[in-house]
Amino acid sequence: MYNVRKVTDDLYWIGANDHRLALFENIHPIPRGVSYNAYLLLDEKTVLFDTIDWSAGRQFLENIEAVLDGRALDYLVVNHVEPDHAASIQEVLIRYPKIKVISNEKAFMLMRQFGFGVDGHEDEVKEGDTRSFGKHEVTFVSAPMVHWPEAMVTYDLTNGVLFSADAFGSFGALDGKLFSDEVDFDRDWIDDARRYYTNIVGKYGPHVQALLKKAQTVDIKIVCPLHGPVWKAKDLGYLVDKYDKWSRYEPEENGVMIVYASMYGNMESAAQLLATKLAEKGVDKLAVYDVSNTHVSHLIAESFKYSHIVLASVTYNLGIYPLMHNYLMDMKALNMQKRTVAIMEGGSWAPKAGQLMEEFLDGMKQMTVLNEKVTVLSTLNESSEMEMDQMVEAIVESLRDA
Ligand code: FEO
Repeated sequence: MYNVRKVTDDLYWIGANDHRLALFENIHPIPRGVSYNAYLLLDEKTVLFDTIDWSAGRQFLENIEAVLDGRALDYLVVNHVEPDHAASIQEVLIRYPKIKVISNEKAFMLMRQFGFGVDGHEDEVKEGDTRSFGKHEVTFVSAPMVHWPEAMVTYDLTNGVLFSADAFGSFGALDGKLFSDEVDFDRDWIDDARRYYTNIVGKYGPHVQALLKKAQTVDIKIVCPLHGPVWKAKDLGYLVDKYDKWSRYEPEENGVMIVYASMYGNMESAAQLLATKLAEKGVDKLAVYDVSNTHVSHLIAESFKYSHIVLASVTYNLGIYPLMHNYLMDMKALNMQKRTVAIMEGGSWAPKAGQLMEEFLDGMKQMTVLNEKVTVLSTLNESSEMEMDQMVEAIVESLRDA
């Protein structure tokens, strides 16, 4: 049975929700599911904006058929060729063999590489080109590396609808609600939106900044992303502000995130005491995570959120605890920068993790490491607690100056 929603008088959301996929990109847990959004415009010509993941292909095809209600499908605009949006292109070409596919040169190259039979269907466009479908005229804006090199967004000059591809998307299934004002985004969605952005697009902050600058030059009334809610103009400032911060690697909160790696509970105990001491000093933006039971995608999202990070790791095989090391490598891969970091290390006979973590941070951009460090020899004692008290003072002072 078809399941669609009207976005405007003549534009329909015809996507689908996926609660069966456990790991997005086979990496990131999505306990709230995900939506694959596609849109269908009924003008003098009919225009499909992107397709969806093949896993929900049947729903998608039923939706197209229902909205078309017997009309032909004239155009498919492909803004992004990653398979969560492009995998159903081949089936669309088979069902609607007269369709024209509008996209850019790189995207057509990728479509052929994926084996889609687009030859003979191409209508190649570049930045600034326009196409008219009757009442609606659209223009195309390249958005390279948001999140692949071929990515573009399509702006409807007639009604101000922006088809934003991966930009402004979020993990989380829609489950009936479509618009930003039908959900409590700040309560129910922001953590998933942050985790989506930081892990999927986080590496490409400068490219997102470039797209935000282009977006400022047009009057956007509605944003239709490829995942998550459709944004109305009145709500958009909230998300644009988040995107601006995330893409400049500026923290949202002047606060502290403690990430600890502990084998037998001694470093855990030290991390908990550090949190208590910080809370007693009035630090209320405070989060504590065990690296062993927190998925790294959550750690990355929280690292983008907080201004200060405490890395507390035991030494393992004379190195950094493997899961802590993995988190650090992920941070570096995603271009994480501009954070103040405090280091606690642990070990019973050759504590090395602190020095190694500091060397790792040296290879990242604009990471400030506090001089006050803590070494936990087997378990916290009077001497290491004194080091901790000095670290607490240093963190509180740094928060004050931030
Ligand atoms: Fe949702 Fe880059 O694909």
